[in-house]
Amino acid sequence: MARTPIIAGNWKMNLDHLEATHLVQKLAWTLTDLKHDYSAVEVVVVPPFTDIRSVQTLVESDELSIAYGAQDVSTHDSGAYTGEVSTAMLTKLGCSYVVVGHSERREYHGETNELVGEKAKKVLDAGMRPIMCCGEPLEVRKAGTHVEYVLDQINAMLAGLSAAEVAKSVIAYEPIWAIGTGEVATSQDAQEVCGAIRVRIAELFDQATADAVRIQYGGSVKSSNAAELMAQPDIDGALVGGASLKVDEFAKIVTYQQA
Ligand code: 13P
Repeated sequence: MARTPIIAGNWKMNLDHLEATHLVQKLAWTLTDLKHDYSAVEVVVVPPFTDIRSVQTLVESDELSIAYGAQDVSTHDSGAYTGEVSTAMLTKLGCSYVVVGHSERREYHGETNELVGEKAKKVLDAGMRPIMCCGEPLEVRKAGTHVEYVLDQINAMLAGLSAAEVAKSVIAYEPIWAIGTGEVATSQDAQEVCGAIRVRIAELFDQATADAVRIQYGGSVKSSNAAELMAQPDIDGALVGGASLKVDEFAKIVTYQQA
């Protein structure tokens, strides 16, 4: 089954709403210049919450084919949860995707696999698609138990989801030691884990679900390594951090097929 590759830019806590508008506008122009085919490679930006309304306005008024989403979401629907944002608020803003369980949320906010699974379910219930993050820290990689570690994360994150829900989801394998370090996993290392994730999904659900789910690699993705990573059979996209803040660089990653 052909899976549409998906390149997503996770801006993290960067760019205010004015800068966001400029970046998305310039990205759209650049991709038009490069004759990018959005049906061949899906493009997603994931700005901070405060930028989403501005991105929505631009995308709708200029009829852009760029999708957008949020970096996190609450498991609650509404009420006394100071600082949180609900799925209903995000759907109202036209979000298609929500990143859940990024390693920075796990590290700084104590998010567990179970909570990440719960967030993914909320996102799916609201009609959006979760980008569920997983990935091992350096000591686990050094110990050689990274595949087992990531598959344990997958088991726990997907425990409350149906096959149809998993098929609609995106999984992002982001080895923590490769995030923001300039140290990219080799394409073989990335394929090893992404391939193992797909096999595990076939075991937990069925082959059709495993064939449908899109698996991204994330961690120091740049235009110079994107094509090689994307050539791996089980890598269907990239979750890009730092390089997504530079329009020309991100546009080159998106158009990796032209490289
Ligand atoms: P970098 O691309 O900056 O390494 O970040 C990866 C990441 O965490 C994307 O979610």
